[in-house]
Amino acid sequence: MADFTSSFWNWYIIIPTVLGIIACFLLIRWLSTGKGTPPAGEEAESMGHVWDEDLEELNNPLPRWWLNLFYITLFFGIGYLALYPGLGTFAGLLGWTSIGQYQQEMDVADAKYGPLFSKFAAMDIVAVADDADARRMGERLFVNYCATCHGSDARGARGFPNLRDSYWLYGGDPAVIEQTILNGRAGVMPAWEQALGGESGVSDVTEYVFSLSGRKVDQAAADRGRKQYQTLCVACHGADGTGNQALGAPNLTDNIWLYGGSRKRVMESIAAGRNGIMPPHGDLLGENRNDVVGDLDDAARQVEVLRDAVDCARDPQLAEPEHTHVGSVQRVEGDLAVECRGDDVRGLALVGRALGGHDGNRQRACALRVDHGVLLLLLRP
Ligand code: HEC
Ligand code: HEC
Repeated sequence: MADFTSSFWNWYIIIPTVLGIIACFLLIRWLSTGKGTPPAGEEAESMGHVWDEDLEELNNPLPRWWLNLFYITLFFGIGYLALYPGLGTFAGLLGWTSIGQYQQEMDVADAKYGPLFSKFAAMDIVAVADDADARRMGERLFVNYCATCHGSDARGARGFPNLRDSYWLYGGDPAVIEQTILNGRAGVMPAWEQALGGESGVSDVTEYVFSLSGRKVDQAAADRGRKQYQTLCVACHGADGTGNQALGAPNLTDNIWLYGGSRKRVMESIAAGRNGIMPPHGDLLGENRNDVVGDLDDAARQVEVLRDAVDCARDPQLAEPEHTHVGSVQRVEGDLAVECRGDDVRGLALVGRALGGHDGNRQRACALRVDHGVLLLLLRP
């Protein structure tokens, strides 16, 4: 209620509630004061309605037990409103709040599970994975927090990676998986339809991508696609197509597809881009459960920054696309920094400036740092 600047809503709730209770009370009293009770031996007054020849409506008083039930509900309501919040901003005599109850339950849970968790927190992650108790707990946590996306059997679905195979986007080392879970991941595959000159370009590159995993392809188209691939795709997927786990760029040679391996799906991935987001779970599973939304924003912002960086690096007016590579987004002292590499420092600086806010759409304060052909572009919120 403190959200409102006037007390209007406070009284809007209190007055009708109190008046309603008083009105109910008066109504029931009026009905129970014996009015209409016929003197002994006499018939009750008729209301003048008759059905089926002799079925007559009489004005008998309501039964006492029934009226008493009404009194009980009224007293219950008054007691409830006195003890619990219900009358406008009045907090109730017990001082109960839903947040307080939640906190109390969390405290009880922390007291109960805290020692269990801290035992495992002190252990090496590989030893934890070998512990049967820990695995049982992990399974329950997985069903609660992860199964919605990765499936209750962890085999994933289109766009949500299978966690049971040994093909990893970001790497399968326990420490890397821990980072994935705690901080989340944002896969950034930009849309290429325009850069590839429309559908036929996308189709050529798709042929080349299929050739990487040994599928049968139209060789002439694949050759055309290879040229495009060498300029536009190597930065992330590598010259040999085996991908880059630092960026989450999938291996394109293993014929395992996050978004489906049919010609239609792969063309869709290339033409429109993909942006898989694994939300950060550190705060949900650990201490600070409140910051998750902020981190999601942060992941979305990283995606946006990286996409802009790739756009700029591809712009022949700004850089020589074949010599400019955009790396990951990192945190540098609280700023988001894009790492760009290239032989042409002037080109890199132009990319940086375009990204940093010198064109109308992108208004981000930024600082540039060029160091041995690596440009760090620091972006402030
Ligand atoms: C809202 C959906 C969602 C939830 C909830 C979610 N994930 Fe993910 N997860 C994803 C997506 C999408 C990706 C792939 C990100 C990408 O495409 O770059 C992913 C990626 C991963 C990866 C990296 C896989 C690889 O190949 O490198 C791991 C590990 C992972 N999730 C584990 C978990 C665990 C454990 C939980 C529960 C604590 C969880 N995820 C909850 C959507 C989710
Ligand atoms: C900025 C880095 C980057 C560049 C450049 C890039 N990709 Fe990707 N690509 C990714 C990432 C990251 C993913 C995974 C997206 C996700 O996890 O949602 C991806 C996914 C894909 C997929 C889907 C793979 C699957 O398993 O379903 C295909 C196909 C693909 N890229 C092809 C290409 C082609 C062809 C090019 C060049 C025209 C290209 N990529 C350029 C980063 C890049």
